[in-house]
Amino acid sequence: MNILIANDHGAVELKSAIVEALVAKGHRVENLGVDSGDSVDYPDMAKLAAERYLAGGFDFGILCCGSGIGISIAANKVDGIRCAQVFDLYTAEMCKRHNDANFIAFGGRVEYGVPVVDMIERYMASEFEGGRHQRRVDKLRR
Ligand code: RB5
Repeated sequence: MNILIANDHGAVELKSAIVEALVAKGHRVENLGVDSGDSVDYPDMAKLAAERYLAGGFDFGILCCGSGIGISIAANKVDGIRCAQVFDLYTAEMCKRHNDANFIAFGGRVEYGVPVVDMIERYMASEFEGGRHQRRVDKLRR
């Protein structure tokens, strides 16, 4: 898949681990995030990634900050972005099946019960169900 990723200084290690794992599995990953611990503002990183995604060419995006919270809030301010903060395999799957999330978010300072890459793979293996869920997603947009 063609994947976009961005992060702030709170998730440099997590971002690098995700990129390495996804590239090793044959995916193309464009890294718009920072690669040093120098402080940046997560709304700026979310805006950069959202605008790049909406320009086209990507299957989905991944956003990472310290908690995963701020960068997902920021991304969801952009019309056309549905960013889900994912915590486990269930939320990884359901955010695609029911919400058609086009971004997923993680926290570099969060202790997850399953590897983040497993959650990303579950998301990628899931399909949007459409039907009544399309109606609800349309209402989000409106
Ligand atoms: C940065 O210190 C931190 O606030 C940010 O990465 C994120 O956790 C905000 O939600």
